[in-house]
Amino acid sequence: MWTQNPWFETVLEAQRRAKRRLPPSVYAALIAGSERGHTPQDNTDAFAEIEFAPHVAGHAPQRDLSTTVLGIPISMPVLISPTGVQAVHPDGEVAVARAAAKRGTIMGLSSFASKPVEDVVAANPNTFFQLYWTGSRETIIQRIDRARAAGAKALIATLDWSFSIGRDWGSPVIPDRLNLKAMVEFAPQAVIRPKWLWSYVSHGMLPDLQVPNLAPAIGGPAPTFFEAYGEWQQTPPPTWEDVAWLREQWGGPFLLKGVTRVDDAKRAVDAGVDAISVSNHGGNNLDTTPATIRCLPAVAEAVGEQIEVLLDGGVRRGGDVAKALALGARAVMIGRAYLWGLAANGQKGVENVLDLLRMGLDSAVLGLGHGSIHELSHDDFYVPDGFERALGTAARQDLAPRS
Ligand SMILES: Cc1cc2nc3c(=O)[nH]c(=O)nc-3n(C[C@H](O)[C@H](O)[C@H](O)COP(=O)(O)O)c2cc1C
Repeated sequence: MWTQNPWFETVLEAQRRAKRRLPPSVYAALIAGSERGHTPQDNTDAFAEIEFAPHVAGHAPQRDLSTTVLGIPISMPVLISPTGVQAVHPDGEVAVARAAAKRGTIMGLSSFASKPVEDVVAANPNTFFQLYWTGSRETIIQRIDRARAAGAKALIATLDWSFSIGRDWGSPVIPDRLNLKAMVEFAPQAVIRPKWLWSYVSHGMLPDLQVPNLAPAIGGPAPTFFEAYGEWQQTPPPTWEDVAWLREQWGGPFLLKGVTRVDDAKRAVDAGVDAISVSNHGGNNLDTTPATIRCLPAVAEAVGEQIEVLLDGGVRRGGDVAKALALGARAVMIGRAYLWGLAANGQKGVENVLDLLRMGLDSAVLGLGHGSIHELSHDDFYVPDGFERALGTAARQDLAPRS
């Protein structure tokens, strides 16, 4: 009988396997996106518009892919971006954290994740904890104190969310609680994905929709994903003063995720952040925001000397990582790529994805004739005219209607 090799050779194959394994609503939650889905598509497609200019001889026999992010040495410039997705795999973020630790990189843990920060830090001491601006200041302090006490090495504040979620292709129906009624409704989806269901049952559990990092007390009753979402929707959005306040409360390394505009990047520097990620939330925020790789060069040029600039959005190949570095990123963060790996083959699937990115990046550095990722530059690529988007560079008065 033919048995499938558990190793997959591209991230797109991991996506195909994830689609076959997961219940349709869980898979659809990973696809995410909003409105017409233009931005997630542009995030990936834009990378293909940047073309390689490879050399034929004089290649380096060994390549160094290592770097540091916020002072932490990592084996390659790829980090795990925080994602709050439930029910992908029973080991969830702990499996992702273990894979990241094995491959020598940083784990980003969402506050909407399914596993407690204490367990995730135990699996990977280089964990960054991610927070949205949700709840009162006292609640926020309690949550960051907990992450600090658990040993999180940095705080990621994600601020690019506008609750724009309508999708032309429809959104998955996800129950608030997995009670008996929801189980009965959900059963047909689980039945057609027996391997997924068995992975939970064999761990002595059923898929859960709680967010333990937002519980008022460690180990105490946690809100469900949708209860936490409700709190967030009711919280007044943060000001730049709030950002500076949060940065000060945390005290340690601080990364602001979600910047696409040059003026915001400069304000982030003023607020005291140590790093930003040029991000559009994987295309899940305002649809038709440009691909992050288009926004990166202007942001990196404006603030890259003062703070660390990362990028996330659409990274599926090692060559994409090389392109982001050449256009000014210190490192990239990945989202869907590792979620598909996790769905396809648990911890090993995430390691598989990280290995693919490492191999692809190494090939790019080799072909471009470099011995280190730090030598990558614009000159290694053809970037077509009109590719870049310098958002937030026009003075406001220039944008005002003329009288
Ligand atoms: C299903 C899903 C859930 C996400 N949840 C979070 C989250 O809880 N916190 C956060 O900062 N970003 C979240 N993101 C955004 C990712 O951290 C990252 O910005 C994005 O996935 C990068 O794009 P990519 O998926 O194309 O790699 C989520 C993204 C997806 C696809």
